[in-house]
Amino acid sequence: MTDRSSPHSQFDNKSQAWSARFSEPVSELVKRYTASVTFDKRLAPFDIEGSLAHARMLATIGILSEDDLQAINKGMQTIRDEIANNTFDWSLDLEDVHLNIEKRLVELIGDAGKRLHTGRSRNDQVATDIRLWLRNEIDIACSLLADLRQALANTALKHADTIMPGFTHLQVAQPVTFGHHLLAYAQMLGRDLERLQDCRQRVNHLPLGAAALAGTSFPIDRQQVADLLGFDAICQNSLDAVSDRDFAIEFCSAAALIMMHLSRLSEELILWMSPRVGFIELADRFCTGSSIMPQKKNPDVPELVRGKTGRVNGHLIALLTLMKGQPLAYNKDNQEDKEGLFDAADTIRDTLTIFVDMMAGIQVNKASMRSAALQGFATATDLADYLVRKGVPFRDAHETVALAVRMCEQRECDLSDLPLADLQTFHADIGEDVYDVLTLEGSVSVRNHVGGTAPEQVREQARRILADNA
Ligand code: ARG
Repeated sequence: MTDRSSPHSQFDNKSQAWSARFSEPVSELVKRYTASVTFDKRLAPFDIEGSLAHARMLATIGILSEDDLQAINKGMQTIRDEIANNTFDWSLDLEDVHLNIEKRLVELIGDAGKRLHTGRSRNDQVATDIRLWLRNEIDIACSLLADLRQALANTALKHADTIMPGFTHLQVAQPVTFGHHLLAYAQMLGRDLERLQDCRQRVNHLPLGAAALAGTSFPIDRQQVADLLGFDAICQNSLDAVSDRDFAIEFCSAAALIMMHLSRLSEELILWMSPRVGFIELADRFCTGSSIMPQKKNPDVPELVRGKTGRVNGHLIALLTLMKGQPLAYNKDNQEDKEGLFDAADTIRDTLTIFVDMMAGIQVNKASMRSAALQGFATATDLADYLVRKGVPFRDAHETVALAVRMCEQRECDLSDLPLADLQTFHADIGEDVYDVLTLEGSVSVRNHVGGTAPEQVREQARRILADNA
């Protein structure tokens, strides 16, 4: 990053785009305070794409000559290469990505470069750039969400029969299959995917043409620009076009939900791999050791996911607060939209990428899951349901089973360990077939309806998810 003064008139004097109007330069601190180039330079490819579409349209309506257009195309290609090769000289004096690129274009091609900004403003330019960038990020996130759902569905198919305790209040409640448990997360991520796809529709509107705030006096063809850039619609009000950041808030809100879901799953992974629980192992590449305790294998990755959820929530709140109370139309406040939005997108991208690999490689300890499910009278509801089928009203059956559980607690045994004669003291109609419902397999396999935990249903659910992805 250098401070650079321009040899060209638009940027003459103090090398700022508006400098002819000013009699003194800003201080170094104010320059740094107001500049965005250190972070908005990542918008460069989208800024160039937007400029090329704008230039093409200006040529169509006769504002630029074909020669100017060709020079702009060529100059922008050089700039692209310079940026890709890291030889582009970003200047803090030129404040942001837009002015840096425009200045370099003028250096490279002269007057044609100075004509490019006809009929537009940085206000509609930046709104266009962010939307183009965000649309791309949404597409990446959607494809990662689909990959993660696929990894979960494949692991669920392998563990459609693996029984674990299902919990409420973190206490053993009823047996469930591990596949079913994993697919609960695939459902959450399916909604996340839908939310991003929905958000994408509103991101994909073209602000360019709004110019500074009121539109432009040139006979622009906004539809042509929208078509060139792949926008589905054109922002219908110039004041709204330059000031709206709803789409960024919607994205951060969808990102916060994704992180919240992954944070819940992380919490479970952490719990499951605690030696006290021992349900799973994560591959070593997602864990670290301790510098002092040689026996430790810490679940750093899920812990960081849980931790990073906080920053994405923060970005959502920051953006809502940024927009609250802003009068129409563009205000410099809006420059503050970028860092949080970038970080939210980077965080979900990295987190989802890591999760795809982590979930595909999860090692399951079926024996510990099973022995945990055998503790805590997980089939008590099944015994109550059995009594209901014998004609006992559910509330009475519930009471009866509570007495049976108490007997088990005194004897330190499971319900399925009680001899038939003892079970019959609770209800005379209890027969030998009661042991079918008191086993873990019996309990899960009867929950055989859409949404139930039966292995057959888990396989169906996984197949539906895999078919969605196909
Ligand atoms: N760097 C600015 C931003 O990110 C670009 C738009 C500036 N417009 C202006 N009139 N100052 O919002």
